[in-house]
Amino acid sequence: MIKLAPSILSADFAHLGRDVKLVTSAGAQMIHVDVMDGHFVPNLSIGPQIVKSLRRDSDAFLDVHLMITDPEKYTDAYIDAGANLINFHVEANGDPEKLLKHIRERGVKSAVTIKPKTPAEEIFKYLDLCDMVLVMSVEPGFGGQSFMEGSLPKVRALADEIKKRKLSCDIQIDGGINLETGARAVKAGATSLVAGTAVFGAPDIAERVKEFLKL
Ligand code: DX5
Ligand code: ZN
Repeated sequence: MIKLAPSILSADFAHLGRDVKLVTSAGAQMIHVDVMDGHFVPNLSIGPQIVKSLRRDSDAFLDVHLMITDPEKYTDAYIDAGANLINFHVEANGDPEKLLKHIRERGVKSAVTIKPKTPAEEIFKYLDLCDMVLVMSVEPGFGGQSFMEGSLPKVRALADEIKKRKLSCDIQIDGGINLETGARAVKAGATSLVAGTAVFGAPDIAERVKEFLKL
């Protein structure tokens, strides 16, 4: 079964705990937490104190997507706050290999992300150190953008490489995912789907989660 990661960027921040419960009780296996620093991307979002509050309120698997320039500087704060997975961009500052090792040493899952213009091959050398990789299917920074088709061949290339090396690494895709683009991403080899607008903007949120889980 695919792992659905509803992005709380599109949730109601005045009722975050309620929205998290709604999607997890409908079967979503992870909660996608988008962290933006106003520098790596032109937007600001979720600090570690929000992760801490979510952790206190729920045992949901918190998938933290760091869209920040200096992931090495803030990773520990998000782990201390209760993140279950730390995911950072290969395009950010620092040494990806060192940070991936550090994340695992801290006892949480590790992941690295590529932006739309970064080739999949760029992260092949890190696959042994990753529990998950993320292919962005929009330019990071905002919810509600249109899916970029160019992400699918990258998902395929990563799926082939992971299979060839017999690794067990999830492939997540993020940006413009709805039931139609999500189905095509799964066909290309994605094992985890991030969806913000398509989940929290649905007329019946729980029903939409169940529809995604059938893909
Ligand atoms: C974009 C974020 C996404 C965003 C997805 O920078 O990384 O996780 O919330 O939103 P939708 O699903 O609306 O494209
Ligand atoms: Zn994201």
